[in-house]
Amino acid sequence: MTANLSPSSLREAFGHFPSGVIAIAAEIDGIRTGLAASTFVPVSLEPPLVSFCVQNTSATWPKLRELPFLGISVLGESHDEAARALAAKTGDRFAGLRTVSTGSGAVFVEGTSVWLESSIEQTIPAGDHTIVILRVSGITVHPDVPPIVFHRSTFRRLGA
Ligand SMILES: Cc1cc2nc3c(=O)[nH]c(=O)nc-3n(C[C@H](O)[C@H](O)[C@H](O)COP(=O)(O)O)c2cc1C
Repeated sequence: MTANLSPSSLREAFGHFPSGVIAIAAEIDGIRTGLAASTFVPVSLEPPLVSFCVQNTSATWPKLRELPFLGISVLGESHDEAARALAAKTGDRFAGLRTVSTGSGAVFVEGTSVWLESSIEQTIPAGDHTIVILRVSGITVHPDVPPIVFHRSTFRRLGA
């Protein structure tokens, strides 16, 4: 056991926990806006709630949190480049990505396994992140798309 709780040690330790990756996105004045997140967690069935954690330093979240609806897309195993692009500091995060924008303003990435249309239900400050609880208002499932897995800073595929 070590008491080294530096951010880099914690990031390395937390990275051993494998997770999926989502895109959370919406249109703002016709511009697709969003980010990649690996902290997505389903929370409740009744009511239908999911969550993810956003860094308090995020420049994109203050724009998204003002919107009535956000699109969550669970990225598929072919989306490793897309996941990196959706986290890029500069440039169009959606360049080369086919997306669907709904009338609600939510943006979904084509070719992903699950789309969840959602609205912010609650936010909970948690250290240098904020836990965002979202209420799901619509679901689309493409069951044959295998997920991408983020593990130790690397994108992996599920074994057969
Ligand atoms: C695989 C992956 C997972 C990520 N997960 C999260 C996350 O759960 N929460 C978060 O705030 N940022 C996460 N990021 C970083 C964001 O995608 C984005 O880079 C960050 O919010 C900085 O951009 P912004 O200032 O425009 O928000 C992740 C990035 C990658 C590549």
